[in-house]
Amino acid sequence: MPENLPPELIRVQGMSHIHGIDATARATLRDVSLTINAGQSCAIIGASGSGKSTLLGLIGLLDQPSTGQVYLAGRDMTQASADARAMMRNRHIGFVFQSFNLLPRLDALDNVALALLYRGISRQAAQAAARRQLLQLGLGERLHHRPAQLSGGQRQRVAIARALVGEPALLLADEPTGNLDSQTASEVIELLLALNRERGVTLIVVTHDPDIAKRMQRCLRISEGRLWEMPHD
Ligand SMILES: Nc1ncnc2c1ncn2[C@@H]1O[C@H](COP(=O)(O)OP(=O)(O)O)[C@@H](O)[C@H]1O
Ligand SMILES: [Mg+2]
Repeated sequence: MPENLPPELIRVQGMSHIHGIDATARATLRDVSLTINAGQSCAIIGASGSGKSTLLGLIGLLDQPSTGQVYLAGRDMTQASADARAMMRNRHIGFVFQSFNLLPRLDALDNVALALLYRGISRQAAQAAARRQLLQLGLGERLHHRPAQLSGGQRQRVAIARALVGEPALLLADEPTGNLDSQTASEVIELLLALNRERGVTLIVVTHDPDIAKRMQRCLRISEGRLWEMPHD
């Protein structure tokens, strides 16, 4: 992503997405358009199966839409090569998932450092950056613990450290508190919001929880394949 980010970080235009190609194929998203500016925080809500993860995967370049365009920093990513899309994803987008998706055999430090090794950064530099990031998220005492030796909240903080270590412009979190108790969930949300405020990382959070949605600047709801901007109260 260019150093000087355009204010319009994400623009989705007339996007539809169909899972499957046979007679059972059904549009999950229909003619969805949205714009998200750099630095915003945004919730995506909707019933289970409504297409929230699908939308996040399309914005995060994990998947290609059936029709329509996804622009990141002004560039039409639906026209970009697979390599260009992968590079954009690795360099500029961090992902956090409900189930943490940490590698069980690696300790916290190596789970975070791995994100940088994929970019060709040396092991030493990657570990130094991973250590810094984990310290900032309060995990200095847990660097050499494996996921199974950490609590749910600590695992999610390791996953957030992994998402952030490459200094992404965009952080996509798919039900990041779905496996956490309510106290730990609110700590994780406060952490994400602090990163949004203090580092300016653009934050999109899929959530079932109306209280979490209220903490974001914007709230988008998916229903019957369509996207609606919810008024803020
Ligand atoms: N890989 C896939 N192949 C076929 N159908 C899928 C696939 N992924 C999701 N779907 C379908 O798309 C719809 C939306 O799924 P999803 O985006 O995961 O919803 P949500 O995250 O809101 O629960 C669901 O009906 C689901 O069954
Ligand atoms: Mg989902």
